[in-house]
Amino acid sequence: MKAIVASIIAAIALVPATLAVKVNPLPIPQHIQWGNSGSIELDAHLSFHAPKNSVLEDAIKRTTKLIWKEKWVPQAIEKAPVDYPPFPTLSKRGAKHTLKKIDVVVTDLKADLQAGVDESYTLEIPAAGGTGVITAKTVWGALHALSTLEQIVISDGKSGLLIEESVSIKDSPKFQLRGVMLDTGRNFLKVETILRQIDALAWSKLNVLHWHIDDAQSWPIQINAEPKMTKDAYSSKEIYSHSDVKKIINYARARGVRVIPEIDMPGHSVSGWQQIDPKIVACANSWWSNDNWPAHTAVEPNPGQLDIIYPGTYKAIKTVYKELTSLFTDNYFHVGFDELQTQCYNFSTPTMDWFKADPKRTYNDLAQHYVDNALPIFQDKKDRRLIMWEDSILSADFAAKSIPKSVIMQTWNNGPNNTKILTSKGYDVIVSSSDFFYLDCGFGGWVSNDPRYNVDYSPALDASISAAFAADPSTAYGPTTFNYGGNGGSWCAPYKTWQRIYDYDITVGLTAAEAKHVLGGITPLWAEQNDDTTVDSKMWPRAAALAESLWSGNRDANGKKRVTQMTQRILNYRERLVGRGVGASPLMPKYCWKNPHACDLYLDQSAVTA
Ligand SMILES: *[C@@H]1O[C@H](CO)[C@@H](O)[C@H](O)[C@H]1NC(C)=O
Ligand SMILES: *[C@@H]1O[C@H](CO)[C@@H](O)[C@H](O)[C@H]1NC(C)=O
Repeated sequence: MKAIVASIIAAIALVPATLAVKVNPLPIPQHIQWGNSGSIELDAHLSFHAPKNSVLEDAIKRTTKLIWKEKWVPQAIEKAPVDYPPFPTLSKRGAKHTLKKIDVVVTDLKADLQAGVDESYTLEIPAAGGTGVITAKTVWGALHALSTLEQIVISDGKSGLLIEESVSIKDSPKFQLRGVMLDTGRNFLKVETILRQIDALAWSKLNVLHWHIDDAQSWPIQINAEPKMTKDAYSSKEIYSHSDVKKIINYARARGVRVIPEIDMPGHSVSGWQQIDPKIVACANSWWSNDNWPAHTAVEPNPGQLDIIYPGTYKAIKTVYKELTSLFTDNYFHVGFDELQTQCYNFSTPTMDWFKADPKRTYNDLAQHYVDNALPIFQDKKDRRLIMWEDSILSADFAAKSIPKSVIMQTWNNGPNNTKILTSKGYDVIVSSSDFFYLDCGFGGWVSNDPRYNVDYSPALDASISAAFAADPSTAYGPTTFNYGGNGGSWCAPYKTWQRIYDYDITVGLTAAEAKHVLGGITPLWAEQNDDTTVDSKMWPRAAALAESLWSGNRDANGKKRVTQMTQRILNYRERLVGRGVGASPLMPKYCWKNPHACDLYLDQSAVTA
């Protein structure tokens, strides 16, 4: 601590003003201009003057509490082993300037937290100290200003706080929809676990929690109109009551995060539904038959899909949907529609009779029958927007022929190719590519009794790889050996590192018109191998890589990929998360955080630019 104070006092600013300083907020603002005033102290009684608004007032209280508790001490050692730009040196400590208050000006206090709401803000910390200013069109933009402020305030090395230089920030998101997906159907997550994720979303300027509530395995949400459904919760303690749901929505709203619920239908549906009426679920008691693929009824255990022909299905959907749409406040509702398996309906007499009645009927017709019957239920109000997984329109053997273009498609297959197909058809798209964004990949297979694991000897490297490696060990980092061992039972291996997530450009290959249809991205964390004990470390800090790429992009002002600059930001941010109570994974040895770029693969700082 002492050394830092000494160096703050002694160091001379050597860097151009725009590069600034040791702090490195994530996501990097769209426009940030550091001054060279020298550091500005925060008055111990720093006050905020804000319009009367409970969301804003609560957020200000949280920010004040956080910065005085966190007392962030930058860790990057001034002189890294190799001193590349843009590593900042500490700024000189000039005349004593004190920031006494921050005025918060919001134009529209009423704007609701819904899709497309204005999230822009400005933040000015003047060179002379005195009064800082936050301006925003909406409360939700002002919250982002506060989350930026939280990341530019640092410890003065004693008991006080400072901002290293005067600064002028003008910021707004590149994409309107930026989020993560939590799955509480495969394994339950406690309310407090979900709230903790929401904290981290808000700190990263992510604005959507896509809540995949149920799945075939369990039904964890209370439905008053059909109380039997929670017989298929894992236990009486693993149920979200209506008041739990309201708590989650209100907590998220207070932090500028929308909660978009998903009830996955008609696939992945058995738990809960079967309690209403067993006849609305097909193939519930079948063997999933991965070992006899032509007969498989599901892509993972346990099987079950809503019966599309049996009329009772739509009665049940209506009851459940109506109750949930009165509980959730967002205009968006996700109705699932992924991974329908044809063979499941061999167990449905109504469906088999329907096929027999007209031999020309196909599974695409069956999917269309579902759309024609379910959509009028889902489209319950004018400003409702529905989200479906892309399978609903792109599945090779079980897609609907026609789905209105007002439905948002969430893409997860084939990377940019499917984004292109969907946007060129005119759909708005949420990108959740499994090749880039799935946080659950790379943890190995989870189904048991898997003979592929029955191997007692180390697998031999392919001879050509061994020879190449012997000739040049650097090929260990080449494409062939990097994923040594195949997918290890994980269908979407390997693990998606923060660099994989950050570098993926979600509009690559699109025309300008197509790119306009990309609303943003969501990084999913499916929960076959995830629960309260692992969610923090699987989600964070990787979701923060998505947060920056969707907020201000993964490229610098010259259009070059800026992963090398992101490195220190995400390492800092991970430390902040841990300090703030989120068990984010370490990304590197701490040495690399303290010695910026000592742990780069390439000395050349422009190695990743294209
Ligand atoms: C399921 O039904 C379809 C359509 O009638 C049929 O082609 C298929 O062979 C059946 N599958 C099995 C495993 O019986
Ligand atoms: C995506 O499209 C490219 C270019 O047409 C093609 O080479 C590639 O195989 C496609 N990838 C997938 C996963 O479909």
